[in-house]
Amino acid sequence: MAQQVKAVIARAKGAPVEVTTIVVPDPGPGEAVVRIQACGVCHTDLHYREGGINDEFPFLLGHEAAGIVESVGEGVTEVEPGDFVVLNWRAVCGQCRACKRGRPQYCFNTHNAKQKMTLLDGTELSPALGIGAFAEKTLVAAGQCTKVDPAAEPAVAGLLGCGVMAGLGAAINTGSVGRGDTVAVIGCGGVGGAAVMGSRLAGASKIIAVDIDDRKLETARKLGATHTVNSRTTDPVEAIRELTGGNGADVVVEAVGRPETYKQAFYARDLAGTVVLVGVPTPEMTLELPLLDVFGRGGALKSSWYGDCLPTRDFPMLIDLYLQGRLDLGAFVTETIELDAVEQAFERMHHGDVLRSVVVF
Ligand SMILES: NC(=O)c1ccc[n+]([C@@H]2O[C@H](COP(=O)([O-])OP(=O)(O)OC[C@H]3O[C@@H](n4cnc5c(N)ncnc54)[C@H](O)[C@@H]3O)[C@@H](O)[C@H]2O)c1
Ligand SMILES: [Zn+2]
Ligand SMILES: [Zn+2]
Repeated sequence: MAQQVKAVIARAKGAPVEVTTIVVPDPGPGEAVVRIQACGVCHTDLHYREGGINDEFPFLLGHEAAGIVESVGEGVTEVEPGDFVVLNWRAVCGQCRACKRGRPQYCFNTHNAKQKMTLLDGTELSPALGIGAFAEKTLVAAGQCTKVDPAAEPAVAGLLGCGVMAGLGAAINTGSVGRGDTVAVIGCGGVGGAAVMGSRLAGASKIIAVDIDDRKLETARKLGATHTVNSRTTDPVEAIRELTGGNGADVVVEAVGRPETYKQAFYARDLAGTVVLVGVPTPEMTLELPLLDVFGRGGALKSSWYGDCLPTRDFPMLIDLYLQGRLDLGAFVTETIELDAVEQAFERMHHGDVLRSVVVF
């Protein structure tokens, strides 16, 4: 029996989001229906509403979520009703060229639920990142459900589903930050803040946080930054070099997604160092660099999609560290809100007032 639940949708480009009733079908083969307990508000949800991702309106927003599996379809073995899960947007296929080479974290053919959730009049919804979790219940592919220790707070656990995992993974997976490395993180919102935290977890010796907003720098200190640089008033490349014996950092994480901050990252790293781009640029942006500098400085220029995470490997491990008090994932939850307050949460995010607002059901 299909169910009717309350959810937040974006009906048209730029229009405020609205709470409405949607229809969630019973799970088909390989699918699961999850009762959502918490879902964070991510910048990407706002990009969807603004038509910045594609124009397949109406969107069912929300994708940083945790909840309880309510029912599963035929052939589902990964999870069962009652399991506490974090939803992921990397349900790996096991068949593509990346999976076959033993690198499922790069899977090129991830999947979502086959059936569609709809409005009451039958209009099909496009769930954000194949999830759509600003909803009392949502339909996903079973592989999008990653079981974690149910002792974790849902509002905290759900954040691993996107931004916090992207930032942690940019440092520890993509950047391979190791013990004794020097690290700089440019842009310290939810994603950059998590990169700071990941660098501390990995044993970095210096973690230099760069932002244009002093409030974000203050938070970055709490998350593990050893030094902060306000790049509105101070040249970040010079400051990072100065703080690293004149050399530059071993790993620089760019968590803004702009050409000027990418250039800062490029020149603020040591010879043979690594740049990790985790900020998402927009289509019109281009980058110009002297090719001789690209060659002459050596090292690696990498991009990080979803922190190169493998949900089944990374989510339970990070939740365990959090429960042991070794990873303060709770620091990312600035406020918890009701389902009807998503539009106001976008506003606060836009003004830089929050790391994350989290809808709690
Ligand atoms: N690669 C991925 O898989 C992935 C996943 C989630 C989000 N993202 C992207 O990561 C980026 C950051 O996301 P977020 O949720 O942290 O956003 P956010 O808005 O919370 O944080 C952005 C931060 O950058 C700072 N900033 C802006 N301009 C700057 C500049 N010129 N120099 C230094 N700092 C500057 C802001 O003050 C803010 O603190 C976005 O582009 C987002 O789309 C990527
Ligand atoms: Zn694959
Ligand atoms: Zn997101």
